[in-house]
Amino acid sequence: MIKKAEFIKSSQKYKDCPPPHKPEYAFIGRSNVGKSSLINMIADKKSLAKTSATPGKTQLINTFEMDDIWYLADLPGYGFAKAPKGVRGGFNKMIYDYIEFRENLVNVFLLIDSRHEPQKIDLQFMEWLGNKQIPFAIVFTKLDKLTSTQMQKNLNNYKTELLKTWEELPKIFTSSSTSKIGKLEITGYIDSLNEQ
Ligand code: GTP
Ligand code: MG
Repeated sequence: MIKKAEFIKSSQKYKDCPPPHKPEYAFIGRSNVGKSSLINMIADKKSLAKTSATPGKTQLINTFEMDDIWYLADLPGYGFAKAPKGVRGGFNKMIYDYIEFRENLVNVFLLIDSRHEPQKIDLQFMEWLGNKQIPFAIVFTKLDKLTSTQMQKNLNNYKTELLKTWEELPKIFTSSSTSKIGKLEITGYIDSLNEQ
């Protein structure tokens, strides 16, 4: 459980983020996948991170401090097709640089909409994380939009796809920000990593 959640700052690049003195976790994934909503859900604060039905809401690296112990970074979504190409490239560089060079980053949570078939952009992103040896977990979002049978089917399908390129599956979580599913599992995992 997170008892205290505070917004610290928005940064345009990783070098402007707060001093790297606390373990940091980043939420990343395609635009509109539910990153900001998931942050609000796990922190139990409605408008800590700004959410929107229009993709591309989060455009900067937003850092939050949790329980005075760790940082959470809400990142802009990748694959935001509506942004002008130049801006899109800028977003991507900012995200990739952040992940590669942010020294206190402990784990990346890659959010994936549980309704969709595996998407190339997410698989490629995981491949990049693997090449850079950056630890990550997958969080399947918007569970409430599927029946449990559909969910199970999509999850198995995704695992099969991953096992074509990965020897081992990453840690996998399922979540719904509207039904408040996945909160204890995700925060418990972060706590366990913080204790290591
Ligand atoms: P960007 O900042 O644009 O990259 O988006 P984001 O990934 O931060 O998504 P955001 O949290 O802003 O949510 C996008 C839309 O999905 C909003 O309309 C949310 O209300 C909705 N949404 C997010 N999570 C859930 C969920 O678990 N269930 C349902 N039904 N809707 C959700
Ligand atoms: Mg957002």
